[in-house]
Formats: sequence, structure tokens, C-alpha cells
Amino acid sequence: MKDAQPHAIQLADYCEPNFWVDKTHLVFELEESHTRVTSKLSLRHNPQRPYQIELNGAELELLAVTIDDQSLTSDQYRLEGETLTIDNTAEQLTLTIVTRIYPDKNTALEGLYRSGGMYCTQCEAEGFRRITYYPDRPDVMSVFTTEIIADAEQYPVLLSNGNPVKETLDNGKRHAVWHDPHKKPAYLFALVAGDLRLNTEQFTTCSGRQVELRIYVEPQNISKTDYALDALKRSMTWDEEVYGREYDLDLFMIVAVDDFNMGAMENKGLNIFNSSCVLASPESATDATYQRIEAIVAHEYFHNWSGNRVTCRDWFQLSLKEGFTVFRDASFSADMHSATVKRIEDAKIMRTVQFAEDAGPMAHPVQPDSFIEISNFYTVTIYEKGAEVVGMLHRILGADGFRKGSDLYFERHDGQAVTIHEFVDAMADANHYDLDQFKRWYKQAGTPVVDIESDYQADQGTLKVTIKQHTPDTPGQTDKQPVVIPLQLGVLGDSGEELSFDIAGDCHWDAEKSLLLVNQASHQVEIRGLTAEQPVLSVFRDFSAPVRVNYQQTNEALLHQLASDSDGFNRWDAGQRLMLQWVARAERSDHFQLSEVEQGALADLLLDTELDPAMVAYCLTVPSDSYVAEQRSEAIDPVSIYHARQKVLDAMANQLAEHWHSRYQQLLTDREYQPDPAQMRSRALKNLCLQYLTRINHAGEQIASQQFTGATNMTDKMASLVAVLSGNGNNPAKQAVLQSFYDEWQQDSLVINQWLAVQSGSSKIASLEHIESLMQHPAFDWRNPNKVRSVIGAFSNQAMLPFHNHDGSGYRLLADAVIRLNASNPQIAARLLGPLTKWRRMIPLLAEQMKSQLERILASGQLSKDVFEVVSKSVAE
Ligand code: TRP
Ligand code: ZN
Repeated sequence: MKDAQPHAIQLADYCEPNFWVDKTHLVFELEESHTRVTSKLSLRHNPQRPYQIELNGAELELLAVTIDDQSLTSDQYRLEGETLTIDNTAEQLTLTIVTRIYPDKNTALEGLYRSGGMYCTQCEAEGFRRITYYPDRPDVMSVFTTEIIADAEQYPVLLSNGNPVKETLDNGKRHAVWHDPHKKPAYLFALVAGDLRLNTEQFTTCSGRQVELRIYVEPQNISKTDYALDALKRSMTWDEEVYGREYDLDLFMIVAVDDFNMGAMENKGLNIFNSSCVLASPESATDATYQRIEAIVAHEYFHNWSGNRVTCRDWFQLSLKEGFTVFRDASFSADMHSATVKRIEDAKIMRTVQFAEDAGPMAHPVQPDSFIEISNFYTVTIYEKGAEVVGMLHRILGADGFRKGSDLYFERHDGQAVTIHEFVDAMADANHYDLDQFKRWYKQAGTPVVDIESDYQADQGTLKVTIKQHTPDTPGQTDKQPVVIPLQLGVLGDSGEELSFDIAGDCHWDAEKSLLLVNQASHQVEIRGLTAEQPVLSVFRDFSAPVRVNYQQTNEALLHQLASDSDGFNRWDAGQRLMLQWVARAERSDHFQLSEVEQGALADLLLDTELDPAMVAYCLTVPSDSYVAEQRSEAIDPVSIYHARQKVLDAMANQLAEHWHSRYQQLLTDREYQPDPAQMRSRALKNLCLQYLTRINHAGEQIASQQFTGATNMTDKMASLVAVLSGNGNNPAKQAVLQSFYDEWQQDSLVINQWLAVQSGSSKIASLEHIESLMQHPAFDWRNPNKVRSVIGAFSNQAMLPFHNHDGSGYRLLADAVIRLNASNPQIAARLLGPLTKWRRMIPLLAEQMKSQLERILASGQLSKDVFEVVSKSVAE
């Protein structure tokens, strides 16, 4: 447990370190019950700073401190809280520190810990200090040499960053030495020891160098590694082609571990992955899993340049590497699959999760100015909003301009730890473009709101448009300034064609990119030369900025866009806006029916075989409960939203019944499963049809159980399981399908995670008793974050009906889980809190109960910094 009154760290207090660490030599002796770590540091004084060596350490047993072979006595250093301070006036010295740690007892999964039969590390952000005393801050970059000594039989594979130097056997012990020639901060350090198998391939880089690629897994998983290895090669080629970035070591390794707090970690030359983000086979992984694996493999690989070669000066700059790298992996996925579909997926995350965060108690800028616990700032704002901001730079500067900027950034800052400011300056300098106002995106929290009004003068062919922006107050931030908003737009004519036009007004128009640069609180523009009776203005095409848009459009205009907007994103968005209205309509009356026009519009899409079927599937998917909730301006009652949305789904199912059926039949295929983009697209639509079919009648349910029985790949199997669970069939039938699935897959922990998640996240299944029984199930394990996320995370984020039960029982269950995990795994405990932090947006009955659970957590005893920060900020006045 941490100090009683955790205090906040401020960006404004940043100072350079007192000493630099040129070389770091580590020796790990892995014993049965503990590990002994000897760290030898070559320190060099920083002339700007005092002669005081400051080292961070947490949960360490300090055995010895030596300076240049002179052993220090305990009066020659100070150990206060998590800091070890040594006064020393030498310009250069060698500091040796010996510590003892207990990886087997480490349940927080930070530092060195045990997962199954292996040892592994997680050092980002501040985990290295749980291994040894060290200046654990990203601006201290050092060349690492690592020696690992362990039982030869139990741990035949010993890995660390960089290149293998030598490996010897002595007295039943294996001794491996690794050297990483690239200097790096301690958060990129990694060590792995275990009985692992490897899958390997060769990659030839653009300059003709040979790189060996290896994926290490536990023996039973070796057949599930081909896809990730292939995705890695695609990522390496893509980064060479699109960014001109080549890999810089002779070896690149990925290790899969079962117990991991996040998705994966970009340690130099030795990426460590949550096994759920790397292992796949057609029988056990869904198309969604394959796509996630490809994206995360790419993300971690891309960090080699955006994060490792150029790293962050301090953790306030986290988005420097994460925002940029998410932007890079999103562009990669867009290139591998469909750019429009990728844009839709990203906008959904922004609108459901990020906008909510930005409107809640944890709202923070992309470059935060203070934090209590950095682990709480690995957020959708840092990652996804950060990526959107980089994406706006790309949109404004164009692909070539952006590439010039990134080339200059890597050239200027290779080997350095820098700030977000320096990233934007490289973009500005390379393009001779002023980005000063643009930088507000990094400093201001909150989602900008854009209000648009338009007035058409048919006789002149002129559309007068007023555009206003404002950014709401967020905790600790008021009086926000206007930001630079790239507004991509077009106008549709009476038969859906793109109209050409001129724009006049007080706002910069980039005709080539169809981009209006909105940068004042208010603008007036005129779109002239329109030849149409009723032109339809299509705004924020391709989700060109992460803003909320208020633009009232008629149903006819939305239907027109849904049918014919040349911008795929806005076609989808028009459909979503219509469906939001339908849910609102269904909430006001007992019966819900689509009008003939609405029904016809959906049928036209469903039956259009020219369109990308994945795109059709997205267009015909009703926004999720949480998407609907997040779009509401009034107090939210999730239970009422849930019931209204179900009515819309039932109406869509029944009114288009024959079309769902015929399209489903059409998309059935005997072809052997491949996780390729074309097959994935058609399975997406086929399985959406199935979701609707099971709502119609018994015949529809029959089709789902047929698919369940006959499926030879997990995509079809899981889709049919979800269809049966969310369909209108009876409960015993649902329990039977769940049982049969479990019987077949109980040996595969990753599949069982998905099995846990689909039932925990289903409003029709996840009663409180059901969730409690899952927490008692042999497949559940409090120590494994994936299991916790699959049951408690899925329940509280997706099962709207039971979680928001008006009696408050869902909230109590979540609070109990947080209290339990607070001691064993604070990072996971704090992350689970998300749904409770949104209490202020709920109807009073729910808001009070959520708040009282937060207060119960606060009063529950010694809180970790992680949980304390989220809870205290959530209940603050
Ligand atoms: N840098 C990692 C990524 O984005 C994130 C990460 C992995 C992480 N494990 C973590 C962050 C543990 C905090 C704690 O790819
Ligand atoms: Zn990352």
C-alpha cells in the first residue's frame, strides 16, 4: 500500500535528472522463492543539477549499496518512502546495488512476476522500480547488459532485450547474457524465463539486412502463432513503405503471457503480449480477434520508432508515443482492410467511450498537467483522442506534408526523450506551417461542440452556413479558447450526385482537400453555385475532427445521405442518427414500427450486393446502449434505453424478415475458413443477418442452432452463440447452448474468456446470481486480468439491464470487486471503476446509488493510489 495522502505530480515541476546513467549492467539470479538483482550503474553528473543521486524503488529488500567498490553504510544514504538518495560529488562513478525481490508474490503484475510456469516483466510506466533502485524516469536513457542465471531444466529459455551475447551451463544452472546496443529508458526493459517453444521466420529489410523474427509461447500454444508472425512481417514492410522506417536489431521477439494487465508492451526487441492478443487458430479465434492481433502486433512494432528510438521526456508526454502510434496502427489497419470501416470503428469508440471520459470527472487534456498515479492515464483520451489529433495534422498537412514532418521528427530527435511540443514543431517546421493554435488540442480537455445552421436560397443556388464552436468546462479548466477544426464537407444534389461549388466567407477553404479550417468561435460562409432544388450538406466527412456536431437535418436529408453519400462514413452516420431517433421514438410509445420509407431504405442497403458487406453490416447495426446513452443530453436511464432499443431491433428484424433470410442464405459458403479481409467482410454481414433472424420466430432460432452445431470456425460459432443468447428464445435453451460450448472448449482458456464475456455482457443472461455463479466457476480466477475483464468488465460495461438495476445491486457487485482487487492488483481495480464514475449523468435514483458505492470504496480502508485517484476525483464537488 502507498502513502496515506497520495499527492499529485505536476508537469510544471519537471526538472532534468541529477545524474545520467550511461550504462546499466543487471544480474538476475532466479531462485525458488526469490530473485536477487545486482545492478551496476555508470553514473555521470548533470552539470545543471545538484550532486545528489536520486533513485526510485518500491517493495524492494535492499541488501547492499557500493560506490566504486566502496561499500556504503546505512548512514551514507537516505531511504524515505520510495526514494533512495545518496549525496555524491563525483562527476562520474559506478554505483552497485543489490536487492532481493519476490516475483511469486507479485500479484500487481508490475515489475518481475510469475505467470503460469514462467517469469516475465512489465516495467511501463513505473514498474522497473520494483526490480531495483533506479532513476525510473523515461528521460534517463542507458545502454543495458543483462545476465540471467536460473535452473537449466525449469527455465531453458532466458531472454532479455537486444542481442544474445553468450549462454553457458554450469552446475545445473543456465547463464545467459544479453546486450542491447540502443540506449533506452528503464520502462522498455524486459526479461523472460521459462520453458517456451518458438515459431520463427526471416525478414529482409529494405536495406537488405536479415532479421530473425521469433514468437515464444508455452508448448501447447505453438500451433496458434502463424498469424501473428505474418502480421508482424506485414507491419515491418508497411512501416518501411509508408514511413521509411527500418528495424534496427538482428532479432525481434514476441512472448505470449497469460497474466497481463494490458494488451501488449513494446519492450525493445522483446515485446511481451497478453496471450489473448497474439494467439489464434481458425477453430478458436474470431475474425475480431484476428483483427485485434494484427492491429496490436503492428502497434507494438511501430513503437520501435514512435516510442523507443524517440521516447517521452516524462509521462505527461505519454500521448507523444501512444497517440502517434495508434494513428500509425489505424492507418495500417485501414490499408489492410477497409479505410471506411476502420473510421467507423474508431468514431464509435470516440463517441461512446472517449466523449464520456471527456465529460466526466477524469477528463484530462491529451497532454495532462497533473496526475496522482500515471497508470490511470493510459486512457482513451491519451490513446484515441491523441491519435485523432495526429490524424487532424495528417488531414491538414496532407500525406506528403505529414511524411516530411515525421521524417524531420525522427531525424531531429533520434535517441532523445522529447515532448509533444517538439513533435508538433517538427510538423510545423517541415511544412513552414503555423501550428501554434493547433497545439490547443493538446492542452484543453473536453470535447468541442460544433453548432451548424444552414439556410438555402434556391433562386441563387447559395447555401448560407453558420458554424459555431465552444468547448465545455472540465474539472479544473474553464474559459476554453477556439481550436483549429478541419471540417471536411461536400454537397449532395437532388439525385445524390456530388455537386461542385465555390465557398466564400471568413474561413479558410482548402478546395483540394475539401477542407474548411474552422478556427474562430463563429464563422459565416456561403456555398455558391449549387444547382439543386434541395441540396444536402454533408459535414465532417470521414469523421474529420473529434467533435460533437449539432446540425439539425430533416429525415429526408438523412435518408438521402444514407442512400447516396459518396462519403462512406457519413452514409453510416446518417443511418446512426436515424436509428437514434427511432430509439427515442420507441421510448415514447408502446409500439414501434418503421415507416414504409424507413423500411425501404434499410432493405435497399441490405440487398445492395455492390457494396462492401462489412459496410452494410455497420450501416444496419443499431447503435449500442452505451452509444445511445452517451448521445443523450438529458439524464440517462439505461433501463429505459435498453427496452426502447430492443423494440427497434425487433421491428427491424420483423419488418425485413424475408430479406435477412435471403441475404443470410446467399452469404453461406462451403469455402475453407481463412482470416482474410474478403471472407471477414461477408461473414460480418452473414452473422448480422443471423442476429436479426433469431429475433423473428422459432424458425430463426433453428437457423442459429444449426449454425452453432455445424460451425467449424470460432467466428461462426461465437456469432451463433451470441445470436441464441440475445434472441427471443427461452432461457433453458440458452443455458443448454452455453453448457455445450463449455463442454467443448473448457481446455482453452482464451476461448473460455470469450464464453465468460458473452454471457456476462448479455442483459438477457447476466442476472446478479448468474454473475455471482460465474465468479465461483472453476474457469474464473481473480489473479488473471483477462478473467476479471471477461466477467466484471463485460457485466458493468455491456449488461445495461442488470448492471443498472434500479435496486443498485449491480453497482454493489462492482464496488465489491474493486475493493477486493484494490490490494492485489490496483491497476485493474482502478480500470474497473469506469462505469461508476459516470454517475452524474444518470437519473437521480441511479446517480445516488452509484455515488454511495464510490463513497463506500473510499471508506473501505487503505486504498492504492490508483483507486484513490479515480474515486476521490469522481466524488469531488
Ligand atoms: N505501452 C503499452 C502499449 O500501448 C501499454 C502498456 C502495456 C501498459 N502494459 C502496460 C501501460 C502496463 C501501463 C501499465 O502498447
Ligand atoms: Zn502503445
